[in-house]
Amino acid sequence: MHSDTTNSSTPLLRATGLSKSYKMGRGSLQVLQSLDFELQRAEVCAVMGSSGSGKSTLLQILGLMDSCDSGSIEFNAKEISKLSAKKSAMLRAEQLGFVFQQFHLIHELSALENVLLPRRVACGLSWFSKRQAEYHAARQLLHEVGLEERMTHRPSQLSGGEQQRVAIARALISSPPLILADEPTGNLDSETGGRILELLLKMARERSTSVLLATHDSAVAAMCDRTIHLSDGQIVD
Ligand SMILES: Nc1ncnc2c1ncn2[C@@H]1O[C@H](COP(=O)(O)OP(=O)(O)O)[C@@H](O)[C@H]1O
Ligand SMILES: [Mg+2]
Repeated sequence: MHSDTTNSSTPLLRATGLSKSYKMGRGSLQVLQSLDFELQRAEVCAVMGSSGSGKSTLLQILGLMDSCDSGSIEFNAKEISKLSAKKSAMLRAEQLGFVFQQFHLIHELSALENVLLPRRVACGLSWFSKRQAEYHAARQLLHEVGLEERMTHRPSQLSGGEQQRVAIARALISSPPLILADEPTGNLDSETGGRILELLLKMARERSTSVLLATHDSAVAAMCDRTIHLSDGQIVD
């Protein structure tokens, strides 16, 4: 379980006045416009909105994969939007889990090595002394997602649903307090997608891990604790 010394009544994540625009020819496209958002600890929240409404942009900014033009992001009551590249990489590896529509696994690596990637980043030079325990934890997670027989397979040798199971194990390997999931079932047939979503939410809830999940599917959103809607760059409840 993740260690957390912050008062449990402060939100896990608080975005204030987030704005983001993309350059479009001579003009610009305002995607987020002074957006305010809070996510509580252990909360599972869906972000809905039509295609192009900015769901992925929001998750990428909150996950420090993209920068905002203005605004602040507090994570565990600490401002994180202006961290150095090195510190953001460390925060992503240790405190955040990511699940993407396109899985985003490294094709040259086995399922097991993919799950371990965030730990290699987080451990840095101490990797060698910690690797045995880390391998043990990764095997344990792959077992839990039902891939104990597939640990040495490459992503290309796995089905879409199996690849997303690897991504779920990777997202959980650092026991992060937050998982950001962008259309996690978008590339799967509805039956596989339903099972993957149930697995992700079950494992997150067992660990009191918060989840922010972008989806355009109201059936997916219905499985979350709360739904917010993105429209005109802001959240409308
Ligand atoms: N890197 C980018 N450069 C320019 N425009 C972008 C970029 N990424 C996204 N957009 C545009 O920003 C808007 C929001 O995109 P996105 O966040 O992907 O929406 P959603 O995930 O809700 O479909 C869209 O109009 C999209 O075309
Ligand atoms: Mg998107």
